[in-house]
Amino acid sequence: MTPADDASRPAPAGREASGGAQPAPAGRAGPAGTSSGAPLLELRGITKHFGAVQALDGVDLAVEEGQVMALVGDNGAGKSVTIKTISGIWEPDDGQVLWKGRPVVIAHPNDARDLGITTVYQDLALCDNLDIVQNMFLGREKLRHRLLDEDEMEKAAKATLADLSVTTIRSIRQPVASLSGGQRQSVAVAKAVMANSKLVILDEPTAALGVAQTEMVLSLVRRLSEQGVAVLAISHNLNDVFAVADAITVLHLGHTVAAGPIANFDSQVAVDYMTTGRSERDAASAALATETE
Ligand SMILES: Nc1ncnc2c1ncn2[C@@H]1O[C@H](COP(=O)(O)OP(=O)(O)O)[C@@H](O)[C@H]1O
Ligand SMILES: [Mg+2]
Repeated sequence: MTPADDASRPAPAGREASGGAQPAPAGRAGPAGTSSGAPLLELRGITKHFGAVQALDGVDLAVEEGQVMALVGDNGAGKSVTIKTISGIWEPDDGQVLWKGRPVVIAHPNDARDLGITTVYQDLALCDNLDIVQNMFLGREKLRHRLLDEDEMEKAAKATLADLSVTTIRSIRQPVASLSGGQRQSVAVAKAVMANSKLVILDEPTAALGVAQTEMVLSLVRRLSEQGVAVLAISHNLNDVFAVADAITVLHLGHTVAAGPIANFDSQVAVDYMTTGRSERDAASAALATETE
């Protein structure tokens, strides 16, 4: 594998350099990352403790441009702390964060925003009393002759929602309080798109949603990825993960235990890794484990 080969055509997302026929047990192969085809975002050996609690203990994660990466793990595995580290809420104790192959420090949410990272938290951070347009332009209002350019903002909001195929919203002038959970999620994502995000992080995007709304959010995730935006989604729901993700990273007790293209996992193997940190059924991983002994 030479840099020239890599540059001539993009490597398949999430593929390991060594052939990638199996989920790579973390700490051995680690996330793919060559100097030419560097991932959009890469975490290497991130650690974070809160007092006596070691919340993160070696998190490796690589997200490629336009890739949908699912971050899965049991309760307390470190998923939320990981995304808060990427979002600039917490600074890691140790480890490296790379953006397009360059080491970066994300010490504040503004740093994340400046890189093009938008995080949509579970509570969504929309203002219920404001309408959709107002929410989408909150803090970035368009002005014309020192007045709000309502026409321009409405046009842009409509176009973005249409691009994302969000069709169920009756009026972009209705208050966000009147929207369903899925619609709120759509507005939050559309807001991220309008901010020219390169990476959208979703914390449990479908947790509170019904079947139809879940479908809507999953297709929204697909649409984002088609537009070249990478998505890092935390999910408890493996059905959602297998429906939409290109790749999976599994955390167990604050540590990355497996990562790779979705095709290398089935739900049994994913559940094994999530609950025990290893998988007997994952032949490749078992082989690697024997090698080490
Ligand atoms: N602000 C905090 N202070 C102390 N401990 C925390 C804090 N945030 C998370 N933790 C601990 O870190 C570990 C990982 O938490 P978290 O990332 O929220 O897990 P997950 O999102 O995977 O369920 C847990 O043991 C949790 O109790
Ligand atoms: Mg969490």
